[in-house]
Amino acid sequence: MKRLLTVFLITGTLAGTGGAVFYAGAAAGDDDKRPFWRDARTVSRDFKPVMNADYQNECGSCHMAFPPGLLPARSWQRIMGGLADHFGDNAELAPETQASITEYLLANAAERARSRRADKFLRSIAANEAPIRITETRYFVRKHDEIPERMVSGNPQVKGMANCVTCHGRAEEGVFNDDEVRIPGYEWAHF
Ligand code: HEC
Ligand code: HEC
Repeated sequence: MKRLLTVFLITGTLAGTGGAVFYAGAAAGDDDKRPFWRDARTVSRDFKPVMNADYQNECGSCHMAFPPGLLPARSWQRIMGGLADHFGDNAELAPETQASITEYLLANAAERARSRRADKFLRSIAANEAPIRITETRYFVRKHDEIPERMVSGNPQVKGMANCVTCHGRAEEGVFNDDEVRIPGYEWAHF
């Protein structure tokens, strides 16, 4: 049975793109135990980089343009529906821009991101909840609850948890891997 499966996988790989080979290799040392043949050609570990110019320009001016896979569609809908009072700021947009950004966010939200990291965020949010903060999702809180406040709000180079890119240098590329985390001013710290 095991041999049959292997033959099947190899055949499938030859028939498909080289991506599957790469994915199978990458999955070997991964912490995620999802079977590697599931969606092998389309699932990645982290997020796709943001490629939408409107989203990057309009939503990346005050903070980074967060990868849409960090929140479910229902959260983005709430955020986009409340831009007049966006965490105390007015972030309203022209109707066409608002519509095109909303479309991009919904098309790439956690449910559709095809990313194992996005799945983890998604699974940590109750079905009847639509958080408007990434930093309040259970997965986020669990991953960051050991970092003392003095390294975050008390750290002039970080200021707040929403400034992902200060600690995750490749956040703009969609990469949040814990091997690459460096807290400015506390480079020696390990979590
Ligand atoms: C005028 C400045 C401004 C613009 C423009 C802006 N934001 Fe924000 N946004 C903020 C502020 C301020 C916060 C709260 C940051 C904090 O608490 O550290 C925030 C927080 C967020 C958060 C939650 C971050 C967290 O804590 O997890 C999301 C998601 C977000 N914004 C999405 C958007 C989207 C989508 C757009 C574009 C439609 C946008 N923002 C445009 C100022 C802005
Ligand atoms: C003050 C620095 C800091 C900020 C700001 C920060 N993080 Fe992190 N993050 C960390 C550290 C440290 C870890 C490693 C935790 C561990 O190993 O348990 C981590 C881990 C993670 C992980 C899990 C990585 C893995 O491989 O398991 C994700 C996902 C993540 N952060 C996303 C974010 C996002 C999204 C933001 C912004 C909304 C953010 N982080 C902001 C420091 C930070």
